[in-house]
Amino acid sequence: MIVAAKTPVVVPSLLAGDLSRLGEQLDSVKAAGCSWVSVDVMDGHFVPNLSFGPDFVILAKKHGFFVDAHLMVANPEAAAPWFASAGADIVTVHVEAVKDVKSALRGIRALGRKAGLAAKPRTPIDAILAVLDECDLALVMAVEPGFGGQKFMADMMPKVSALRAAVDARGLDCWVQVDGGVGLLNISQAVAAGADSLVAGSAVFGEKDPVAAFRALEAKARAADGD
Ligand code: DX5
Repeated sequence: MIVAAKTPVVVPSLLAGDLSRLGEQLDSVKAAGCSWVSVDVMDGHFVPNLSFGPDFVILAKKHGFFVDAHLMVANPEAAAPWFASAGADIVTVHVEAVKDVKSALRGIRALGRKAGLAAKPRTPIDAILAVLDECDLALVMAVEPGFGGQKFMADMMPKVSALRAAVDARGLDCWVQVDGGVGLLNISQAVAAGADSLVAGSAVFGEKDPVAAFRALEAKARAADGD
């Protein structure tokens, strides 16, 4: 099956949002053309941080976004249904956390949501390639998950390219996502490696002017894609 290449999408992460005015921030980037946001879910066990519950997916859906819920949790099979019923369009689990990867991904699709699979930096990309046909999104972490504002790990880009090659060779309709330390200095490298979904927290909501920051990232990503 030939699947049209996807134009790279910049996906602001709520993790860097100002919780006292998150709705306002969401509306502002939406007005600038942002259509997809990422909700980083952390349980203090799989990663040493605690973040959002399903209510933040509900908030983002209320503001009209396509939403991926990135579950950095020790028991993703138990948590996935909560985020699916909160309206997440994509529920992404970590290959390191699930007991049975194929059944976890099929379980998410059975809930009527798209299934994402993420790999931490030290996890070989073969762990995702082995079940890529079951994925609607494949996520390469460019930082150790748990906190925003970390340094982008450029040595993760070969994993992105391996995913890109497999998605294209198999004609899969699957996003290739990069998350962690994405910003103006490295987004072109991530797109050139084959990413078409770029999660950015600090580089958007961590900036004084998130709208300008979003627009600059998007322009850079599209330029790198030859737009
Ligand atoms: C890490 C988080 C972050 C977040 C993006 O666990 O997943 O990568 O989404 O944060 P920045 O863009 O600030 O690295």
